[in-house]
Amino acid sequence: MEFLQEILIPVAYLLSAVLFIMGLKKLSHPKTAPAGNRTAAIGMLIAIIATLVYRDVIDYTLIIAGIIIGGAIGSYAAKKVEMTSMPQMVAIFNGFGGGASVLVATAEFYRLVSGVGQLPAFTMTTIGLSIIIGGITFTGSIVAFAKLQGIMRGAPILFRGQQVLNSLLLLGVLTLMVLAVLAGAEEGMYILGIITVALVLGYMFVIPIGGADMPVVISLLNSFSGIAAAATGFVLSNNALIISGSLVGASGIILTDIMCKGMNRTIWNVLFAGFGGEDLAPGEGGAAAAAKPVKSYEPEDTVVIFENASQVIVVPGYGMAVAQAQHAVHELEKVLEAKGVKVKYAVHPVAGRMPGHMNVLLAEANVPYDNLYDLDQINPEFEETQVALVIGANDVVNPAARHDKSSPIYGMPILDVDRAQTVFVLKRSMNPGFAGIENELFFNDNTIMLFGDAKDTVSKLVAELK
Ligand code: TAP
Repeated sequence: MEFLQEILIPVAYLLSAVLFIMGLKKLSHPKTAPAGNRTAAIGMLIAIIATLVYRDVIDYTLIIAGIIIGGAIGSYAAKKVEMTSMPQMVAIFNGFGGGASVLVATAEFYRLVSGVGQLPAFTMTTIGLSIIIGGITFTGSIVAFAKLQGIMRGAPILFRGQQVLNSLLLLGVLTLMVLAVLAGAEEGMYILGIITVALVLGYMFVIPIGGADMPVVISLLNSFSGIAAAATGFVLSNNALIISGSLVGASGIILTDIMCKGMNRTIWNVLFAGFGGEDLAPGEGGAAAAAKPVKSYEPEDTVVIFENASQVIVVPGYGMAVAQAQHAVHELEKVLEAKGVKVKYAVHPVAGRMPGHMNVLLAEANVPYDNLYDLDQINPEFEETQVALVIGANDVVNPAARHDKSSPIYGMPILDVDRAQTVFVLKRSMNPGFAGIENELFFNDNTIMLFGDAKDTVSKLVAELK
């Protein structure tokens, strides 16, 4: 028994940590990602079994009921969720992670208090951090979920003195934590105060952020849920939880940083600028742009240009996801390749609304990974390319980012589609994209607009080319 508790369980935790790290490494490429997922899942299974045989577990009834009910809900939700709803699914999962940290830390607080009375400062600090970070993650993630799911308005909710109020709440919760540490345990009321303020703070923290900025916030909250779990790991002296929580915390922060760099914005700008409201429906906005002349073709007018091209670069964006055009796009690629036209895909790091959005959609349509190129690889090729085919992308191909210092996207790295001989842009109207700004690309001499739903337009192109 001692061997199991002292040697086998820690070794199992170490093994699961190694598997988590190997899994994460494999997740960095679409080809190895499924294997990475399986590797990490095996790591999690080992960690769960090791935890279940821990000597403090005295009754399995509730645990088994939890596994069955939670597992059933989780697998149903994962199977049912639409690809476009993935960000809110991740948000709600993060929220549950944060909520679990609050519950475990609170339960542990009352268990320890009833046993030893006064708690050491370290234990009390880890309990406090676990509750604060977990509580902010919980309500913050619920707001993120509600905004993306359309339950709440996506536009930023702003009012005077908001940042002062939020700073006071943060100061208040930290003060309560210091008081709780000084009091040890006698004052259970501090814990209830910390929980309440942390939950309010999570709500207040996310409401001023625009719905379309949510993916960045979700990535940040994902990191918070990891940090909260790591803090809970210290509360429970559980190494697996400390390691896995730290991995989630670190990878969430790295992803947040990548997303911010891809948009050329700082995390402070995302959190406090009240940027990115609701997505526009066709016909809304874009009125000024609609007044200027643009060249617009019907799909049948484009056939000669495609047939004379030696290379076509497809640039997918958020509109391809909305239209669910990825299968039609793959079909178009096959038709063009059959005619001897080389087809490549240019994937911008923040195209769409979540990290890897375009990669996932294209993989779903069985587009070969080797045909996908990132920004640095593909940009030098546009000058030598006859056709750039922009499918529902807007901000990520806006040349203003290169030269217009007054533009909100100035400095954002973009795909240089305007340097191709001909640029076809598939979208429904002259509406702006996420950043809400006009795109000068649409008015260039070498740009031709193909108005309509991207899936319809691509299907018509396929039919015409056939
Ligand atoms: P956007 O700039 O958002 O533009 C998407 C375009 O798709 C719109 O202009 C829209 O025009 C068109 N569209 C929508 N539905 C369509 C349909 N059914 N058929 C054809 N077109 C359709 O997209 P993007 O170029 O991919 O850029 C992404 C933006 O999101 C960037 O500004 C980025 O910073 C931001 N963002 C990205 C992420 C991540 S991680 N990817 C996270 C947060 C924010 P119409 O309405 O005229 O059709």
